[in-house]
Amino acid sequence: MSSAKALNLTLKVWRQEGGNQRGRLETYRADNISPDMSFLEMLDVVNEKLTLDGKEPIAFDHDCREGICGMCGAVVNGRPHGPEKGTTLCQLHMRHFEDGDTVVIEPWRSRAFKVIKDLVVDRSALDKIIQAGGFVSVNTGGTPDANAIPVPLEDAEKAMDAAACIGCGACVAACPNASAMLFVAAKVSQLALLPQGRPEAARRALHMVKTMDALGFGNCSNETECAAECPKEISIVNIARLNREYLKAALISEE
Ligand code: SF4
Ligand code: FES
Repeated sequence: MSSAKALNLTLKVWRQEGGNQRGRLETYRADNISPDMSFLEMLDVVNEKLTLDGKEPIAFDHDCREGICGMCGAVVNGRPHGPEKGTTLCQLHMRHFEDGDTVVIEPWRSRAFKVIKDLVVDRSALDKIIQAGGFVSVNTGGTPDANAIPVPLEDAEKAMDAAACIGCGACVAACPNASAMLFVAAKVSQLALLPQGRPEAARRALHMVKTMDALGFGNCSNETECAAECPKEISIVNIARLNREYLKAALISEE
């Protein structure tokens, strides 16, 4: 336990038994919280107490707790993944809160993300968009020579930056239109920037955007909240690239 002063907080947490039930904010105490704990560890402490008291623990998504998997996420005091820039909820430390704070914790809000329970929402719509993107052609045979397909360093860097998207859905939660454009832009860009991703680039852009629209995500109106709240700091420039890819694809499409 750190020697730093422990925090005593009031939590207002969204509780909802299921997608078809009404939800409400409930108030809990989170006392004696180490500033070195992560936000999820703080919720673990609250859940332990709820369980010992014979009450239902707060349901929340998590897996790696290292900012890698994209499973965690809640809106904390109105901000997806909380107040720190470029930080997932699992990597948000309690030292960013003050003793005596009231912290409001809610699930992602979007028509495309139905609440499953409490803070857990169904993000399978993002998986469906990925599926609509389809495959990347890879020739079978022996292991190709490392430099057989030269890739300019700048393109490789941009593709890697786009590939940092962990599919958490915070961009959707941050957008006033609940648009998934930043997510789709990252997924289209990471492949469209590389020669290996070009053969299916047009088809991929058309199908992913069509699926995004069909699943109930809103349109992009350049609010840029998505990029501001993205824990992987995916650049808004990717949305411009997606628009170019989509336009090119629509012009040559026979679909
Ligand atoms: S673009 Fe950022 S906020 Fe959106 S899903 Fe990817 S990592 Fe999460
Ligand atoms: S639990 Fe994996 S990114 Fe937070």
